Formats: sequence, structure tokens, C-alpha cells
Amino acid sequence: MSKAPTHLPKHVAIIMDGNGRWAKKRHLPREAGHYAGMGAVRETVRAACDMGLENLTLFAFSSENWKRPKTEVGALMALFRVYFRSDMDELVERNVRMRIIGHRGRVAGDIHQMILDSESRTAQNTGMNLTFAFDYGGQEEIVAATRELARAAAEGRLDPETITPELFAQRLFTNALPEPDLVIRTSGEHRLSNFLLWQSAYAELLFVDTLWPDFGRDALQKAIESFAARERRFGAVNSEAVA
Ligand code: FPP
Repeated sequence: MSKAPTHLPKHVAIIMDGNGRWAKKRHLPREAGHYAGMGAVRETVRAACDMGLENLTLFAFSSENWKRPKTEVGALMALFRVYFRSDMDELVERNVRMRIIGHRGRVAGDIHQMILDSESRTAQNTGMNLTFAFDYGGQEEIVAATRELARAAAEGRLDPETITPELFAQRLFTNALPEPDLVIRTSGEHRLSNFLLWQSAYAELLFVDTLWPDFGRDALQKAIESFAARERRFGAVNSEAVA
């Protein structure tokens, strides 16, 4: 078991990127990179549980990923099926609560059912919250929340003056989670790519060169150590400066 870092973030969110490049470097099809990426998901989830992390969110499939070639989308969906079938027992054993954030209505019926089953099987678990962003887009999420509030206002159920950031956040998929305090993106790209746009307002962003299939226990530990070394001020000045 890895040593628990002294200053754990409450919520780590990861943009898992670089599966394709990992495969290309090995002259393998992109699908092989995604398969290896599933291994990194397993290792990272295990490490996060062992460290005592409370919330881990992984960007598994964006609403833009549907634009990829049909064969690649098919391979990714096949992997999600494998994952839901093979890993739920371990998640239950580890007392993990698993949830999905995202559109839900566009995935195949059997995957939708697996999501519902996995969520209900782990709903009473009290350990780490593991959230997969799946068919997820941050702008879409914000627009849906806005539409809901606008409808309530138009129907006279809501006074627009009472809309606050907190009220707005309650309409997001992540309403049950604290905001991520550390967002990691692998593979050397410096973008958020429509991931947790609202929720990451004050998150520390960490971009690492590691390709996702090479990410795991050590990389997570290092990321958390680097988070612990940063000073977070939330727009204020640090306590020493005001003392
Ligand atoms: C980005 O790599 C990654 C994805 C589009 C999907 C993430 C999927 C996994 C990690 C696989 C399995 C996940 C689960 C939950 C079972 P990329 O293909 O964009 O890489 P590239 O930028 O190098 O082409």
C-alpha cells in the first residue's frame, strides 16, 4: 500500500489523454491504447482508494468523442462493457460508490442498463466516490442547468434574483460532489477540453507528459505531492501576508 500523502485533495479529476499516441509509439492500433488505458484506470482507482482519496472523477468519453471513426467508438463502447462487467465486484469490495455524469440518453441500451445497475449496486457504499464522465460535455451541462432555471423562472416558480452560484451548482450533474481541487491532464496537452468547466473555477491544474496508459499509482502519488506543495488562495492573499 502506498504511503498516504500528508495533504490530500478532496477531489481529483483526471482528463485521461494519450491512449492513441501510446499505441502509435508501439505500432499498435489505437484500440490497443484504449485497452492499456483501461489498465491505468484500474491501477489509478486502486491507488486512490488505498490513499484514502474521497472523490475521483475520470473523463472516460466526451460528448465530442462520438465524432471519432465508428470503429474506434465501437471499440471504446466494447471496453466500457468489459469494465462494467469485470470491475464492479472489486469496486463493491472496496466500498466504492460509482456514478456516471453525462448525457445518458445517447448510449446503447445495454450500456445504459449497466450504468444503472452499477450505480444502484454501489449506491450504499461509503468509501471513495468514483465518477466517470461519460458522454459528458461541460458546456452542455451548463446549458442544461440554465435551461432548467429559465423554465422555472418563466413558469413563475423561481425569482431570477435568487439565482446564486450555489443554486446554479445544484443543477449540475456534480451536485453531490465537492468541486475538484486538482485537475490533472495527461499526455502534455494544456487544455480542459470541455471538462468540468464550472466546477474547475478554483482547481489547481496539473499537466503531465505521461501518456494515460503509463499513468498509475506512482504518477498519482507524484501529482498529489505536487498539489500539496502549491499554495491555494481562492482569490485572497495568503495568511502570512495579512498577519
Ligand atoms: C484519450 O486518448 C482517451 C479517451 C478518448 C478515452 C478514455 C478511455 C479510456 C482510458 C479507456 C477505458 C476506460 C474505462 C473507464 C474502461 P486519445 O485517444 O485521445 O489519445 P491521443 O490524443 O493520443 O490520440
